[in-house]
Amino acid sequence: MREGECEIMSLNSLAEGKGIGTALLSEVEKAAREQDCRLLKLVTTNDNTHALRFYQRRGFVLSKISIGAVEEARKLKPEIPLIGSDGIPIRDEIELVKVLGD
Ligand SMILES: CC(C)(COP(=O)(O)OP(=O)(O)OC[C@H]1O[C@@H](n2cnc3c(N)ncnc32)[C@H](O)[C@@H]1OP(=O)(O)O)[C@@H](O)C(=O)NCCC(=O)NCCS
Repeated sequence: MREGECEIMSLNSLAEGKGIGTALLSEVEKAAREQDCRLLKLVTTNDNTHALRFYQRRGFVLSKISIGAVEEARKLKPEIPLIGSDGIPIRDEIELVKVLGD
């Protein structure tokens, strides 16, 4: 959390489809509100359609698309996989935000 913004660096559910991700996200939101953060933010990649669905259904909106950002990062970190979820090439970073109202 910094300057009124809370960034989710990683959100991982080890047993999907049981409400764990939703519970984790709601705890993050609670903690952010307690720290007077007005914005929740995260970055995912273009292949992660599951996460894009998950977050948008929970009030997040797309705020930035960095075309080719993963391809650039891969030049420094060649271990970043070429192919991600559902066989989709991993190329871009997508930022999502949720404004925390009163
Ligand atoms: C994205 C991610 C965090 C979601 O976590 P999750 O634990 O599967 O999330 P939930 O179980 O709360 O919600 C998933 C679906 O299961 C449903 N669900 C919730 N509780 C349920 C239950 N008891 N029984 C059946 N389904 C349930 C939810 O309704 C939800 O569907 P909806 O969006 O249509 O409402 C998880 O897929 C994950 O860890 N992915 C890999 C890492 C990643 O990509 N992280 C995000 C990028 S930063």
